[in-house]
Amino acid sequence: MTCGRLLRYEIKNQTIHLHFEHLKARIEIITPKIVNVFAGFMSEEHRSKAIEVVKTIPCEVHVEERPDGLWILTDALRVRVCDDFKVDFLDEEEALVCEDYRGSRIPLKRVSEEYLKLLAEEGHRAGEADKEGGHLIEVVKTMTGSEHFYGLGDKTGYLDKRHYDYEMWNTDNPDPQVDTFKALYKSIPFFITLTDSHVYGLFFDNPYKSYFNMGQESDDYFWFGADQGNLDYYYIAGANMPQVLSGYMYLTGTAPLPQKWTLGYHQSRWGYVVQEDIQAIADGMREHDIPCDSIHLDIDYMRGYRDFTWDLTRYHNDPEGFLQKLSDRGFHMVCINDAGVKKEAGYDVYDEGVENGYFAKTPEGDVYINAVWPGEAAFPDFGNPKVREWWTDKMDFFVKKGIRGVWNDMNEPASFKGPLPDDVVFTDEDRPADHAAMHNVYGHLMSKATYEGLKKHDGRRPFVITRACFAGSQKYAMVWTGDNTSMWGHLQMAIPQLCNLGLSGMPFAGTDIGGFCADTTPELLARWIELGALSPFCRNHSAMGSRRQEPWVFGEEVLAIYRKYVKLRYRLIPYFYDLFFEEEKTGAPIMRPLVYEYEKDMVVRTCNDEFLIGSRILAAPVVQQGANHRMVYLPEGEWYDYWTREKITGPVWFVREAPLDTCPLYVKAGTVLPCMPEQSYVGEKPNDTLLLDVFPGEGEYDHYLDNGEDFAYRDGRYHQYHFTVKPDGTVETQIVHAGYEKPYERIL
Ligand code: GLC
Repeated sequence: MTCGRLLRYEIKNQTIHLHFEHLKARIEIITPKIVNVFAGFMSEEHRSKAIEVVKTIPCEVHVEERPDGLWILTDALRVRVCDDFKVDFLDEEEALVCEDYRGSRIPLKRVSEEYLKLLAEEGHRAGEADKEGGHLIEVVKTMTGSEHFYGLGDKTGYLDKRHYDYEMWNTDNPDPQVDTFKALYKSIPFFITLTDSHVYGLFFDNPYKSYFNMGQESDDYFWFGADQGNLDYYYIAGANMPQVLSGYMYLTGTAPLPQKWTLGYHQSRWGYVVQEDIQAIADGMREHDIPCDSIHLDIDYMRGYRDFTWDLTRYHNDPEGFLQKLSDRGFHMVCINDAGVKKEAGYDVYDEGVENGYFAKTPEGDVYINAVWPGEAAFPDFGNPKVREWWTDKMDFFVKKGIRGVWNDMNEPASFKGPLPDDVVFTDEDRPADHAAMHNVYGHLMSKATYEGLKKHDGRRPFVITRACFAGSQKYAMVWTGDNTSMWGHLQMAIPQLCNLGLSGMPFAGTDIGGFCADTTPELLARWIELGALSPFCRNHSAMGSRRQEPWVFGEEVLAIYRKYVKLRYRLIPYFYDLFFEEEKTGAPIMRPLVYEYEKDMVVRTCNDEFLIGSRILAAPVVQQGANHRMVYLPEGEWYDYWTREKITGPVWFVREAPLDTCPLYVKAGTVLPCMPEQSYVGEKPNDTLLLDVFPGEGEYDHYLDNGEDFAYRDGRYHQYHFTVKPDGTVETQIVHAGYEKPYERIL
């Protein structure tokens, strides 16, 4: 699109309105480091789901007309606007950081119609590449050559997204996920660009299907675009990756501190059909001495896969009593809830939805029907605030049963009878909207309603899991990566995928430990728990019909390894909890790629097989079948081997022995790890004792303590301890905030 010459501009507060020959646009300074670039094609306002309130910080903004364009200056950056709506970003020293590409694009890959037909007949999708390019909205930025790209949500493949292309369209594709997948369940149109000289973030706040070409088309440029919606993107400056991510979290919100038990171990399987199955799992966990805080109920608990129903025959007519007994033994029960509501006259949820017009409709005005687990199903129109209220109130059903968390599924929305057509009619708050507009935010809005429902009916910090989401969903739900497969490739992928979710503002995330589809092996399960025990969310889940994969099914060796790592996880729960407290304030992820902490180190920019938990623990798990050694890289600084306590100075590469029971772990010198005394579930013992695991050196550490359940901490009812570690291994303790009524009695 040609926008023409910049004819004039007006400044209103921190917004510069731009009048080009063929386009009206605007640039808004949100903070000295965050700039919004906007041209309204569909509407003149933000219709953002990701950003609920644009929190503009009043700041100095200067505008200068210079020979090479209109310059907008803040304390931290410069924006240069040129004819044709070319927008460049520079740092405060006026060095170019992110520039609109002026050269010509490479021609689209044109394939003859005849050849495309032939490919289609053979079932190939290769011709689809032909459609790329030429979108209504395209932002094309110059590549200087040293770019690495991180983020973009839950995409398959590797950490660095350079040279790949993706789509944002929440997708439930049951095939084993491979690198060539363009999209999975989540759409988070945000990425961080790291070059040899700079780092910055770009967030394309457009909920329609969008495209991200990260230098796959050409080494000269990368681009993102969409065919509908507005040109609406944010440039986020920062001195380093943490600052850039924190800017994105400032816009879209951080994930709230979860209840402490959610950081424990979760056991799940599609196919725990009757109460006795659950009972056996609860007994198995305690008998085999595997700490466990939660068992998840998949769709089996429902009556014929109808939402908000319970198959009483499977629970001896008393699910409440059964759940209470489990709760007495420390199990917090979580249950699944699907987006599709069974079409069946006489089923109250369906009837209420039809009567009140709460379901998505065909353009002719009938309830739109597709199929999901219950067979024919209708789709709640979550963009309608009344529908969200309705859903919010329905959470009472779960809370009254004794359920402590809700797991939202099939909310892309998934549909077994072909995709929902683009023209299915939904609502966007106060106006009709089509499926094309609402698809990517459907899971987000369902999660918002669920979060509000648990908050209202339970009152504690809501625990909501979601499969589909959009940018900003972290405020309401945590995520798992959906239906992975029990294969080594997916264990390998777990590291870059979870790290990129963290860099996309989704800190609370995990994979199905052991793999969901297909049959796991003893070795794969052992290696998966070694990684999974250190992921933010730790849940073993598998599909009906696959080989069972509870910790004890493969005999003593695997069981002992499983126990060792779940116990390590429990020991470290106070450390994880500290990280979540920090995350709520700054947006810093829990599981971090090494590049997040060591961005100047070239080695780690493409590191796919190591990760950090916070800034102090480095994990180098074995993710290769048959391997009992692996190469480890430690970045600069002094480290300790967690198991042997040997001191190692980085940067260094070395070979570490890693037999089946060993996940190589390293801790930074000068660290004190806050540890929880051994227990079978969070809260089994009074939380009166903190153990300190010290790794001598110079260091400081802040430790956080509260009741682990409700929102009292927001009124200051928490304790904060500050530890100073000395080279001789001694630790000085200070209490820097004293608001919690039950502080530790002992710190050992
Ligand atoms: C979907 C979910 C999976 C669940 C299954 C049955 O495939 O991703 O986790 O077990 O549905 O509800």
